[in-house]
Amino acid sequence: MVTSIIDTVKLNNGVEMPQLGFGVYLITDQDKARAAIDKALDSGYRAFDTAEFYRNEALLGKLLRESGYPRNDLFITTKIDNPLQGYDSTLKAINQSLKDLQVEQIDLLLVHWPSKKHFFETWKAFERLYDEKLVHAIGVSNFEIHHIEKLATKANVKPAVDQMEIHPYFTQSELRGYLKKEGIAVEAWSPLGRGAVLSDETIGKIAEKYGKSPAQVIIRWHLQSGTIVIPKSQTPKRIAQNADVYGFSLTDEEMQVIDAMDREDGRNGPVPDERYEEI
Ligand SMILES: NC(=O)c1ccc[n+]([C@@H]2O[C@H](COP(=O)([O-])OP(=O)(O)OC[C@H]3O[C@@H](n4cnc5c(N)ncnc54)[C@H](OP(=O)(O)O)[C@@H]3O)[C@@H](O)[C@H]2O)c1
Repeated sequence: MVTSIIDTVKLNNGVEMPQLGFGVYLITDQDKARAAIDKALDSGYRAFDTAEFYRNEALLGKLLRESGYPRNDLFITTKIDNPLQGYDSTLKAINQSLKDLQVEQIDLLLVHWPSKKHFFETWKAFERLYDEKLVHAIGVSNFEIHHIEKLATKANVKPAVDQMEIHPYFTQSELRGYLKKEGIAVEAWSPLGRGAVLSDETIGKIAEKYGKSPAQVIIRWHLQSGTIVIPKSQTPKRIAQNADVYGFSLTDEEMQVIDAMDREDGRNGPVPDERYEEI
């Protein structure tokens, strides 16, 4: 049931992860970041999604520390950067992430993209960090079904989460179905499709019916689908708006209409298998 911004999804190791979080990709300007994080906290977000690649872990860590919110109330996700994958380099990099984020533990650590070369070594390092309780949960990002299956041949710990591009034009229904069956939580990046979907006519009509914005309808679709969702905005009004998605509910029919909006050319980001060969 989708009820409020404090809703959580229970991961396969028992960790409770907020279902609606705040993405901080491209939020690197000190003043804008401060305004954005303060507004996000004020609006009720407690989960923050960063990555080594975003070059803002230290800024996020500083702002969260200065906010005065108790560490236990916050949920911080970060990701190992592609060039740092491998066993020793992952351990070293995450040590640095812990320092930059000014935390004793990371709540969720993700492999940012699957890497053919470092596939098992990176995960082995993740398992060690998990065993040493430096991370509360470990997961993957941009992993397709065959990557998850390959990981399962040697992994001791199953990924708790797969974070991938999902929005109404790229619904990933097959992968989502597989992950659900496997007990791996689904998390959507670029949940608003970075723009295009926001001006879609069908979404616009549903939004009009409820007196909500297209972004609010899309976030509500993710939440009602059971997906963990991390919209990003640097605009205070939008940050608050994206958290104000609990006063209305999409009908089953509207959910199905949005499910059916998937397009063959809907993907915005890179194709994981192309990256897989390169990293
Ligand atoms: N694992 C991965 O490989 C991966 C890849 C990409 C992203 N991510 C994560 O996912 C998060 C979200 O994805 P994203 O940043 O790519 O895209 P997104 O959240 O789908 O879209 C962000 C864009 O939408 C605009 N926006 C936000 N709320 C809006 C609203 N209510 N009305 C109109 N426009 C709105 C933002 O503009 P303003 O900021 O100007 O308001 C920004 O341009 C990232 O921050 C990052 O944490 C992960």
